[in-house]
Amino acid sequence: MQTVEFYQNAIIKYISDYAKVQEPKNLYEPIAYILKLGGKRLRPVLTLMTADIFECDYNKAMNAALSVEVFHNFSLVHDDIMDDAPLRRGKQTVHEKWDINTGILSGDAMLIMAYKLFENYDVDIFQELAKLFSKTALEVCEGQQYDVDFETRDDVTISEYLKMIEFKTAVLVGAAMKMGAIVANASIEDQNKIYEFGKNLGIAFQLQDDYLDAFGNPETFGKQVGGDIIENKKTYLYLKALEFLNEDDQLQLKHLFSISPRDNVEKIETVKHFFETSGSSSATKQAIEAYSNKAFNILNTLTISDGKKEILKNFGLGLMSRDT
Ligand code: IPE
Ligand code: IPE
Ligand code: MG
Ligand code: MG
Ligand code: MG
Repeated sequence: MQTVEFYQNAIIKYISDYAKVQEPKNLYEPIAYILKLGGKRLRPVLTLMTADIFECDYNKAMNAALSVEVFHNFSLVHDDIMDDAPLRRGKQTVHEKWDINTGILSGDAMLIMAYKLFENYDVDIFQELAKLFSKTALEVCEGQQYDVDFETRDDVTISEYLKMIEFKTAVLVGAAMKMGAIVANASIEDQNKIYEFGKNLGIAFQLQDDYLDAFGNPETFGKQVGGDIIENKKTYLYLKALEFLNEDDQLQLKHLFSISPRDNVEKIETVKHFFETSGSSSATKQAIEAYSNKAFNILNTLTISDGKKEILKNFGLGLMSRDT
């Protein structure tokens, strides 16, 4: 096993060789731009780590890891169009720097490029990776559609929200790890357990993303703080606040999440105040911990050494204390 930084550097190097601009430039430049913009690289790192954990040279998992990262970056390009987001990783989003049509087509190309990377594997592994990828990618689309549908609904439940984030975010984290296990020829039982570990970690990760979207530091977060409030996203913070607030405050919060004022400063401040005073921000922190612990419990059922379990657990703990 290597350190997280080691796997990160390995994938960054692999991406920089991969993301070469060719003609037509207006298709490939945005692809190279988003792929080289940075980011935590957590999904490909998990793919490489998982391959290593199941006794396989991590280099064999490199194309699967890259595929997951290219797919993730495709989803970000389209997500930023859908969320009308100006900033990504501290820089202009693709559709801001170019335009919406460029974002759509470059994103489409990235989805195909992600799939194409499986051609580097023999037929049996190819088939398993492609099957998992197709299932996961469709689920991500379903999650994204729920996310958008919820913007204009005022009766979203916590369980609907949890299903939505499981699909838009968590299944990809689970799949990233399962791909490492597939390449390593791990048993089906271990493949499924590592998927469940990744999925629960992914739910905690998206809850944390929602928390940081409201309370993150604009200097480090890299995205527009308050973006979810501007877009009326029905996050855990919002749903728990409605549960805890008195009737008058509930009505005010619901009203704020039904309007889109030109100047959002006051809306964001008022909403954040509700999130804090109602206790929903601490309830969100508790939920993050609960899903992380659920992931850690699954880890304990895996037939890998205690040292390897410790490495995965520390990776999970690191994600929960992140500010980017
Ligand atoms: C952003 O993912 C999208 C979510 C699922 C919250 P990351 O937070 O992993 O983004 P990067 O790749 O590190 O920028
Ligand atoms: C991300 O959800 C889900 C996908 C990109 C599929 P968000 O919309 O919360 O992600 P950020 O906050 O823009 O990174
Ligand atoms: Mg977004
Ligand atoms: Mg979104
Ligand atoms: Mg977000």
